[in-house]
Amino acid sequence: MTFSAKLWNVSFPWVVYNSSGPRCTTLDELKALWNSESSAILMKSCSPLPRDGNPEPRYKEVELGSINSIGLANHGYKKYLEYAAELKSEFPDKPISVSIVGFCPEDFIELVEAFQNDENVDILEINLSCPNVVWKPQIAYDFEASDELLSKIFAVPGSKPIGFKLPPYFDPVHTEMMANILKKYPVNFITCINSVGNTLIIDPETESPLIAPKWWLGWLGGDYVKPVALANVRMFYKLLGESVTIIGCGGIKSGVDVFEHLLAWASLVQLGTVLWKEDVACFERINKEFEEYMSMKWYTSLNQVIWKLKEL
Ligand code: DHB
Repeated sequence: MTFSAKLWNVSFPWVVYNSSGPRCTTLDELKALWNSESSAILMKSCSPLPRDGNPEPRYKEVELGSINSIGLANHGYKKYLEYAAELKSEFPDKPISVSIVGFCPEDFIELVEAFQNDENVDILEINLSCPNVVWKPQIAYDFEASDELLSKIFAVPGSKPIGFKLPPYFDPVHTEMMANILKKYPVNFITCINSVGNTLIIDPETESPLIAPKWWLGWLGGDYVKPVALANVRMFYKLLGESVTIIGCGGIKSGVDVFEHLLAWASLVQLGTVLWKEDVACFERINKEFEEYMSMKWYTSLNQVIWKLKEL
């Protein structure tokens, strides 16, 4: 049995799709996502102008996850408008989501306007946790700036679902501060979490850090971050209630991990590190494992899982 999902008015054939980051920058990568069992196509975070990103080495895999400091390498939003048109004409049935970043509020507004007015894009995910840009804090850690930015974004006319990719919060006071801002606006969804920022992995054999940019600090994903992601999904559900859909992201590499994110109250989930490691074949494997786990538990509907965490 397969399990489909909805994000407002947009239907997803499965609950699992890609996160913005791995293998979603070029048109070929986006086409590979369409040809896979990814439930949607989410494109790499794009900025007003193309960017080469940070110098190499900027991505490394380790046993328990991955570290990266790509630096928002992307083709610029005008190319992603072209890609969306080409993808929709070839593959009309899969939802297309963009991921938007900017370096000032005007950048965000320009991109939100462009994508709201584009017939091929279904969902707007706005990256408030965009890292790796030299010495600027993540917007979502600056509550005043976040509030001001959301007020500008929601002043742009448009009817597409809008959501925010959030960084992990490590203190419930901060989670609550962000939840209180989100509650002021018609936010459709949040994606919890972006990778954990500013971490250092050292290879003892080479006696060297794994990546070069920004004092060798990078964004951490994979097994390391799953408990942080689950805590953020659960805390935001507690604070926001059912009005905001939560997309779980962080440390998902098996069907059981999907199940845990749904128990915490995610309605859909995204894959990051595992997609980098295994390429698009991971979707079929993880969908199958999830379906098998559900049938082992005799569950036939997602409603038997989401909302059903047995609290102690
Ligand atoms: C990059 C962007 C992200 O949102 C992230 O979580 C990690 C890396 C980047 O392009 O550098």
